[in-house]
Amino acid sequence: LLLIRFLLIFASRTRSNDEPPLDKGLIPWLGYALEFRKDAAKFLSEMKKKHGDIFTVRAAGHYITVLLDPNSYDEILNNSDSLVYSGQKVTEKVFSLDLTSHNRAEEKRWMQQRFHGENLDDLSRSMYKNLQVLLRSAEIVQKMTEWKQDQLFNFCYSLLFKAGYLTLFDKEHNGSSVDLAAIYKEFRTFDGLLAKMARSSLKSGEKQVAFSVRKRLWDLLSQTMQNGSGSSHSWQQDYRQLLEENGMDKEAQRRAMLLQLWVTQCNAGPAAFWLLGFLLTHPEAMRAVRREIDDLLQQGGASQGLPLDKKAETPVFDSVLSETLRLTAAVLISREVKQDTMLELADGRKYRLRRGDRVCLFPYLSPQMDPSIHDEPEVFKFDRFLNADGTKKTDFFQGKSRLKYYTMPWGAGTNICVGRDFAISAIKQFVFMVLTCFDMELSDPDSSMPPSNTIRCGFGMLQPEGDLNIRYKRKALL
Ligand code: HEM
Repeated sequence: LLLIRFLLIFASRTRSNDEPPLDKGLIPWLGYALEFRKDAAKFLSEMKKKHGDIFTVRAAGHYITVLLDPNSYDEILNNSDSLVYSGQKVTEKVFSLDLTSHNRAEEKRWMQQRFHGENLDDLSRSMYKNLQVLLRSAEIVQKMTEWKQDQLFNFCYSLLFKAGYLTLFDKEHNGSSVDLAAIYKEFRTFDGLLAKMARSSLKSGEKQVAFSVRKRLWDLLSQTMQNGSGSSHSWQQDYRQLLEENGMDKEAQRRAMLLQLWVTQCNAGPAAFWLLGFLLTHPEAMRAVRREIDDLLQQGGASQGLPLDKKAETPVFDSVLSETLRLTAAVLISREVKQDTMLELADGRKYRLRRGDRVCLFPYLSPQMDPSIHDEPEVFKFDRFLNADGTKKTDFFQGKSRLKYYTMPWGAGTNICVGRDFAISAIKQFVFMVLTCFDMELSDPDSSMPPSNTIRCGFGMLQPEGDLNIRYKRKALL
């Protein structure tokens, strides 16, 4: 009876004058859940055409207000009194981890410190060394004359994952503890099912796979937690100590470790894939990046086999990275409305948000893919973020108003990616090493970029549906 009353209340919700347009869909309770899950970008862009840049939709019993006006994003991001971060449910579903009593503010401060200043320099150096070791390994081609076939997504993801894992989780790795290839394989299976886990849409066979792979990852990470009693601590050991000091029990700690493994490793590999893929399929962009690297090598700002000087300016590479992330980073920023709140948009329109609803920003649709901000938004233009004089372009407009947020791959506000400087340095070093030490080309010169897997939309970096076949051979020593 209670359930029926509950359904009636929700089914009969109507829009008040001061609320955003309401679209409940045709199916009671479920509303637009299936469309949202299948392809969030397609669904939300259809809703935008129908209702404009703010609307409320119903999905699986929830009412979600979606705001797609980047000039008004700060109204949501800065209102932490009434609108609170709502990632806890996903953390529970995917990682079986309850963080409600966890001190997030303290953890955030710790993270910011660990990815900043000298700590950041240490991590970047260590990442460089680990990449170097992996790129020299037997798995990667040995002989200068021999072409090796591979798939670009796997090439990038496996190398960046393994180097990232060694850098943050297993500083004292000596080949005897965790098998890197095994942990990468388990991680990819887990990562592949993660979006469905978060949306409770796993089929029964998939559910079994997801839970058993998660268990194996917990076990593998427990081994790492026991290793390394030496004097120099890894990032992971220090993080665990922080959790211990906060009173978190051992079981929760190893679950939190998997959460951090995913947060720190799931984006850089896919980002490097899209970036190298765009370069390989856009010869003009590849020439421009190579020219910039050659100039750096000549000026002494870099040398083959050594890390790129952190002061070395790389505006062309930076533009290519920004353009890549504009096209392939798709995070859904979500907040829970704790109390009724009036939202005032940049153009003066005012809307009431109801307590208990959710409010979401989806920067992928606007600003990133918005034709009123970026000309031909679906096209990769390597120099989109460059001024005519070759400097970094930061002025983008919508109509007459200059935008603060013209691309938002790292999120924004309190949940902005704390690892972004580390990620940029890792991707840059990786691409620099691949381009200076290997000849890499498409196996089929006519192949084009694969489409993205729409189910990942909302979870950070998109991943390809399919892959790019490549071949490479070593041209210089690392
Ligand atoms: C959070 C993007 C790489 C560490 C985030 C968020 C985004 C993001 C959008 C916010 C998520 C949310 O609001 O729910 C990216 C992209 C990356 C990348 C596009 C690569 C291209 C990395 C790397 C690290 C890292 C390499 C660390 C090694 C973190 C952490 C958080 C985070 C710790 C959680 C911040 C918090 O909740 O306070 N990232 N990230 N990220 N990222 Fe990244």
